[in-house]
Amino acid sequence: MTNTHEIVIEKVKTSKINSINFDQLTFGKTFTDHMLECTWRDGGWQEVQIKPYGPIQVEPSCKVFHYGQAIFEGMKAFKDASGDVFLFRPEDNWLRFNASAKRLAMPEVPEEVFMDGLKKLIQLDEQWVRYGEGLSLYLRPFMIASENGVAAAPATEYKFMIVMSPAFAYYTGDVRVVIASQFSRAADGGVGYAKAAGNYAASFYPNNLALEEGYQQIIWTDAASHQYLEEAGTMNIFVRFGDTLVTAPHNDRILNGVTRRSIIQLAKDHGIKMEERRISVSELVEGAKDGSLKEIFGTGTAAVIVPIKGFKSEEFTCELPVLDQPYAKTLKEALKDIQYNRADDPHGWRMKI
Ligand code: COI
Repeated sequence: MTNTHEIVIEKVKTSKINSINFDQLTFGKTFTDHMLECTWRDGGWQEVQIKPYGPIQVEPSCKVFHYGQAIFEGMKAFKDASGDVFLFRPEDNWLRFNASAKRLAMPEVPEEVFMDGLKKLIQLDEQWVRYGEGLSLYLRPFMIASENGVAAAPATEYKFMIVMSPAFAYYTGDVRVVIASQFSRAADGGVGYAKAAGNYAASFYPNNLALEEGYQQIIWTDAASHQYLEEAGTMNIFVRFGDTLVTAPHNDRILNGVTRRSIIQLAKDHGIKMEERRISVSELVEGAKDGSLKEIFGTGTAAVIVPIKGFKSEEFTCELPVLDQPYAKTLKEALKDIQYNRADDPHGWRMKI
């Protein structure tokens, strides 16, 4: 079992960093030199290992392949002008990771394994965190059931791992969305609030149908009536009516986004009227018709803030107005200023590595 001081490090012989073109990064395709691995077995976490990034060996009967017992987090590290590296609200990700673990009947990861391991890993691959507008190091902690066997029961062995990927933009083009009227992302009592891998797998087929129609994402609606907006693709959703910003309330179907919470706070800090309440499809359509609907945007760690240019519901299609100073832009700048250490951090969100 592990304690704070047991991080075993095996460094790469030669870094591959010189072969990477940081001006041409495709999201999630390039990984740094090292990764973290820690196994849970016999009721406890074993030593934390940091080693060269590479394949892991598992048997075909490994439970994650059969029952999808897998969770993950998305986080980012940022470099400021003087070369210091910061994490953004990492404790929130650790807490949410363990909330996801609990819901998927997986063991919780102790703070020192998650946080000390993450810091050590970033320190080792610090050269991979680049300074520059929009650049960050995307961090992907995840856990899989690694026990062999196809009995449908929680595993007795798990692997907690962290891999890291230098990142620029998540979306490179415009985003227009279809409002879901048939498919659902989550249901009451389900795993919608957790970062369960299966939530994303289940969205791929409906999303492919949207892509075929020329839309990049789906606005998920409530499974019971398809009348209320819940999430925007892989992001939380914000809608601006007049001068008021509205987001769907957090519940067991909706991911408790760290960026979502940050944007709610930043909107309040900027004196923007902010409401957390249900938003109906008909309110959106009426707003588009009478001009009170000004903006829709999604928020998430990978995507940050993505303005949605237009939407299609069952009976209505619209393009959103182009604004001089959209809230999405103001709030994204405010968020980035904190993340890149260009502004004060009144809420204590930055953690220096
Ligand atoms: C993130 O925003 O970090 C996520 O986890 C979403 C993922 C689809 C990239």
